[in-house]
Amino acid sequence: MGCVTSTQKVAREHALTDRAGGMIIVADTQTQGRGRDGRKWHSQEGGLYMTAILKPVRVNLIPLLAGVAVAEAIEALAGIKSWLKWPNDVLIDGRKVGGVIIESGWLRGEVRFVLLGIGVNINNPLPENLPEATSLSMEVGEEIDVNRFLDHLIRRLDHHLVDLYEEPEKIIRSWRALTQTLGKQVEVIDGSGEIVQGLAVDVDLNGALILETQEGRRSVFSGRVDKQHN
Ligand code: BTN
Repeated sequence: MGCVTSTQKVAREHALTDRAGGMIIVADTQTQGRGRDGRKWHSQEGGLYMTAILKPVRVNLIPLLAGVAVAEAIEALAGIKSWLKWPNDVLIDGRKVGGVIIESGWLRGEVRFVLLGIGVNINNPLPENLPEATSLSMEVGEEIDVNRFLDHLIRRLDHHLVDLYEEPEKIIRSWRALTQTLGKQVEVIDGSGEIVQGLAVDVDLNGALILETQEGRRSVFSGRVDKQHN
């Protein structure tokens, strides 16, 4: 689709027309790529930038499902293992290669659509002041075909979206096998900004991270893992 401000923004305009369920917006570059927590997502040519418009049922598992699909596409196209940090940062050797953002559209107290935004650093150059990021071409030493990657990613997303309705436990199992968060002492900043510390023991069918804290078990529904230790 060439250059857009943000595929999230373009997708929202389509989603509001109400006929856009299942539509996918893909861009070559973005001038206002959005990351989670208000951060910027660097979006130069050579990366994958997409937003899928979904009509949701189990919205809560979509973040985990998307991270799993990205990690699977990386293994299939680049032949390397990547790992998930709850809920869906995709990392190679501790450096971020892909990220997922979920935005919802509400009407009369109900979620009407979900905008699933995915960014993967494939062949795009990364800013020098971002040592905590990596790209697939940096990792494998050669360019990866972005269209083939996109094709595979969409197939994996489709596959897991069926699981979402029929066998959600399968998504959890795939996520568990790909994460490096479980079994670690973590510090999570939850959706309200509160810092929660504890041992990450599992995720539940709502996609919440279950922590063993000094005050007992606690589920964190949204937020990010700020630190994780062995
Ligand atoms: C994160 O912070 O980890 C999420 C990054 C999500 C970036 C993607 S790129 C395509 C889509 N459009 C955006 O503006 N953001 C998402």
